[in-house]
Amino acid sequence: MTILVTGGAGFIGTHLTKRLLDEGHIVLAVDNFCSNYDPELKRRNVANFKNQPGYYLFEGDIRESHFLHLLFGTYPVDAVIHLAGLAGVRPSLQKPAAYFDTNVTGTVTLLQTMQDFKVDKMVFASSSSVYGERNETPFRESDLIEGLASPYAISKRTGEMVIQNAHQLYGLNAYCLRFFTVYGPNQRPDMAISSFIRRLFAGERIQLFGTGQSVRDYTYVNDIVAGIVRAVERVSGFEIINLGSGRPIALIDLVRHLEYFTGRKARIEYRPDQLGDVSRTFADLSKAAQLLGYQPRVLLEEGLQRMVNGFQAEQTFLLEEK
Ligand SMILES: NC(=O)c1ccc[n+]([C@@H]2O[C@H](COP(=O)([O-])OP(=O)(O)OC[C@H]3O[C@@H](n4cnc5c(N)ncnc54)[C@H](O)[C@@H]3O)[C@@H](O)[C@H]2O)c1
Repeated sequence: MTILVTGGAGFIGTHLTKRLLDEGHIVLAVDNFCSNYDPELKRRNVANFKNQPGYYLFEGDIRESHFLHLLFGTYPVDAVIHLAGLAGVRPSLQKPAAYFDTNVTGTVTLLQTMQDFKVDKMVFASSSSVYGERNETPFRESDLIEGLASPYAISKRTGEMVIQNAHQLYGLNAYCLRFFTVYGPNQRPDMAISSFIRRLFAGERIQLFGTGQSVRDYTYVNDIVAGIVRAVERVSGFEIINLGSGRPIALIDLVRHLEYFTGRKARIEYRPDQLGDVSRTFADLSKAAQLLGYQPRVLLEEGLQRMVNGFQAEQTFLLEEK
């Protein structure tokens, strides 16, 4: 298949690109290299694919209809995996308009272009944050969505809704995948695990918000990628599907694991609860298993060990380069 991957230079986008190329697909990666974090990291991500057969990179913005029309008019796209967006709960409180612009207007512009070029398959990166604050676990796709806690969560839920609308009106086949906190090598530097590993090795303080008892369902990026690939192969009709690990743990326990794997003692600074954060996430995975044959394989201990190893290898490489 020829698959257009938006957000192709990002954390999940580059892991996905590798898998798609390995499986013989053609990847058209689109990214605007925006500065939500250091764009140099994104350039390093895509440098790995330069000269790889079947890989094409386009620097451009999904909010620009002219750019998308040129792209879709030139290449025969079979399906779109739509990962481009502004990610993260906390920064969305500072820049809500930018989040809606990219995550909603960008998605609508992309949908309009797909309709113009009769491309009828889409997989969308939604988020566990759409579940908002709730006590009942695990979170099921059939749960009533109310009490969304951040502009980011609202922008992702709106993304699901405009995609569902395109399904109803124009017959788009689309799966909206609700990812539960994704981690792995090259994770976005603003996310907890990568930032904690960096700080542990640098001997810097780690800030924990609340009591450290907030609970997250951390999912290794290879498991997420396997779910995305299955989704694009099977997408038919409209579905919302959780992709998680189904094994949530408390933040403080995560830090204890990282202390073990880095061999460093954490200097913890407790801070008040962050606005917009929810106290727990926990994925019910039965729908993913049924529709996608999804089965998370990487245990947290194994995933964290791989991330720490990746971080150390990177540091050695950078030192040798100097
Ligand atoms: N990482 C997670 O834990 C997680 C969890 C739930 C959902 N998601 C969603 O998955 C997707 C990928 O997440 P990630 O962690 O890889 O983030 P990321 O920031 O590394 O990747 C997103 C990419 O989209 C690009 N982008 C942003 N705006 C764009 C625009 N207007 N046009 C073109 N490209 C644009 C960015 O430059 C970036 O490379 C995001 O949509 C995110 O909201 C991620």
